[in-house]
Amino acid sequence: MTTTTPSPPASTMRASVMTGVRTLEIEDRAIPSPGPYEVLVEVAAVGVCGSDVHYYRDGRIGDFVVAEPMVLGHELSGRIAAVGENVDQSRVGQRVAVEPQHPCRRCTQCTAGRYNLCPDMKFYATPPIDGAFCRYVTIDANFAHAVPDSMSDDAAALLEPLSVAVATMRKAGVVPGSSILIAGAGPIGIITAQAARAFGAARIVVSDPVQERRERALTFGATEIIDPIAHDVAALDPQVDVFVDASGAIPAVQSGIRAVGPAGRVVLVGVGNDNYPLPVSHIQNLEITVTGVFRYTDTWPAAIHLVASGSVDLDRLVTGRYDLDHVAEALESDTDPASLKSIVVPR
Ligand SMILES: NC(=O)c1ccc[n+]([C@@H]2O[C@H](COP(=O)([O-])OP(=O)(O)OC[C@H]3O[C@@H](n4cnc5c(N)ncnc54)[C@H](O)[C@@H]3O)[C@@H](O)[C@H]2O)c1
Ligand SMILES: [Zn+2]
Ligand SMILES: [Zn+2]
Repeated sequence: MTTTTPSPPASTMRASVMTGVRTLEIEDRAIPSPGPYEVLVEVAAVGVCGSDVHYYRDGRIGDFVVAEPMVLGHELSGRIAAVGENVDQSRVGQRVAVEPQHPCRRCTQCTAGRYNLCPDMKFYATPPIDGAFCRYVTIDANFAHAVPDSMSDDAAALLEPLSVAVATMRKAGVVPGSSILIAGAGPIGIITAQAARAFGAARIVVSDPVQERRERALTFGATEIIDPIAHDVAALDPQVDVFVDASGAIPAVQSGIRAVGPAGRVVLVGVGNDNYPLPVSHIQNLEITVTGVFRYTDTWPAAIHLVASGSVDLDRLVTGRYDLDHVAEALESDTDPASLKSIVVPR
């Protein structure tokens, strides 16, 4: 496929701006200029994430409060429209997936290669940093990851949640033959199930109280499903090597940990609760490692490979597509249990 160089952008762009709880306004904003090591990306597709929905409905997630007008959206793909002075000019026109974060690159965590833990991180659509429900964004050139033409704009955008799953597989030490329990069959749980299969897991159990969500997991890599209301997840037999919580539900974490066998690993991905009881003697007596995942470091190359090689299918997650004038509908689409992933195409 030949790539065409986009015409130089105008000086302003349309953006969907969250100006209050459940309030969005279309604004004309200045198109940002790329810094010396940045690129300007013309946005092609943006996935709607649960965190966007939380900010929209509640105006906050924990200590992160939307105090000023902010653009939501952090799962995105697009095409490089312009480059900063120190970036290879031949990249203009390249299709890219954006890794939506700006670590400082100088602190101890960045230097140690754990830039997701950078205390000075600027992350898209996390107050006060604007996200991508708009026509153009800027990003460091090396966080604009080139994608093959075989990959759709939607799939390239959804490399972001796949990156969470790749980080989770690495933390969980999933290898060929592993057994894994995943709590939650929302987008993250579904993508985690696909990633687990791609990493070679032999047994993939997915729990979700919603029957429709649970059954859908079977088409995305789950080898077994379990209703956590009707059945005791902790009694899974045999026990699993790995438990991933992708629900954020306290009972899911408590029962999931007890489903893990000796020397197993637990990775907490779901968020939303602090300070609740855990089955400590089970963790202690079986030497289970319990850890969390906070986004990702260096996952796009692996995620691109998983999709380009056909091991993970992200296109099949997409259940709705909306333009900039219908971002509110995109953010409310999760009220339909049949909805899995909505995409905003910023036209
Ligand atoms: N740590 C990170 O870096 C990171 C990144 C992205 C998302 N997240 C978090 O991951 C979680 C999942 O994201 P999502 O978009 O898929 O959310 P989601 O709300 O769409 O899905 C959660 C699912 O969990 C199910 N659930 C509820 N109670 C359960 C129980 N007791 N047992 C099993 N399943 C249960 C729900 O029915 C739902 O299907 C959220 O908490 C999100 O904030 C974390
Ligand atoms: Zn997200
Ligand atoms: Zn840093």
